[in-house]
Amino acid sequence: MNMNYQIPVKKLSNLVHTVSDASFLSDFINQSYYGVIWDRHIPVKIQDWLNKIDPKLIPSFRHIFHKNEVIKSINKIFENSLSKDTQINWLIQDITRLSKVFSNLMNVDYIRLRMEVVSTNSCRKFHIDAVKGRLICTYRGQGTQYGMSMDGNDPEKFKTTPTGSPILLRGTLWTDDNSRLILHRSPPIEGTGETRFVFVIDPIFDLENEI
Ligand SMILES: [Fe+2]
Repeated sequence: MNMNYQIPVKKLSNLVHTVSDASFLSDFINQSYYGVIWDRHIPVKIQDWLNKIDPKLIPSFRHIFHKNEVIKSINKIFENSLSKDTQINWLIQDITRLSKVFSNLMNVDYIRLRMEVVSTNSCRKFHIDAVKGRLICTYRGQGTQYGMSMDGNDPEKFKTTPTGSPILLRGTLWTDDNSRLILHRSPPIEGTGETRFVFVIDPIFDLENEI
C-alpha cells in the first residue's frame, strides 16, 4: 500500500499560516504550522527606492552575529555602501528588527544573516532547508514560492510570498514532526532581467560547530 495515501489532504493555507502583525509570529513556535508569513507592506516610497536602486549599491553578506551586535555590524556593512540615500536607514532598521524578532522567537543568542542580490536561478528546485527554522524576506523581486508535496515531488500548485513579507519556514532539523510536506524554492528569474534582494536569517544553536 502506498503510504502517501495515508496523509490526509490538507489545505495549503492551513499549513502555512498568515499573520498581520509581528506579535502573532509566535504562532511559528506555539502552533504546528510548517510556515508562517507576516503579511506586511513596506512603505511605498521605500519599496519604490528598493525597486529602482542600482543593485551594486546593496551589499551582499553572510555572517554570524550575536543578536546584540546586529545593529552595529549591519551599520558598518552598509557604511561601506556607496549609496548615501536616506532610505538605506529603513533597510538597516528593518534587518535589525527582523533579527531581533527571529532570535527571540527561536531563543538563540547567535544568528546567521545573509543578504543576497540575485539575478539567476538560485535554489530553483523545490526543497526543504537543513536548518531548524529560517526566516526569508525578499525586499525586491518575487518572494519565496512554497507549496504542498505529498510524495516529495514538486508541488502541483504553489504560492508566492508577497515581496517585503517575511516567511518563517521549518527545516529538516525541526524534530517533533514530519515537516517535508511543505517545499519551497526561489522563483526562477534567469533571463527575465529581474533582480531580487533576498535576506535570510538562520538561528545558530551551537556556535562552535559553525566556526
Ligand atoms: Fe531554501
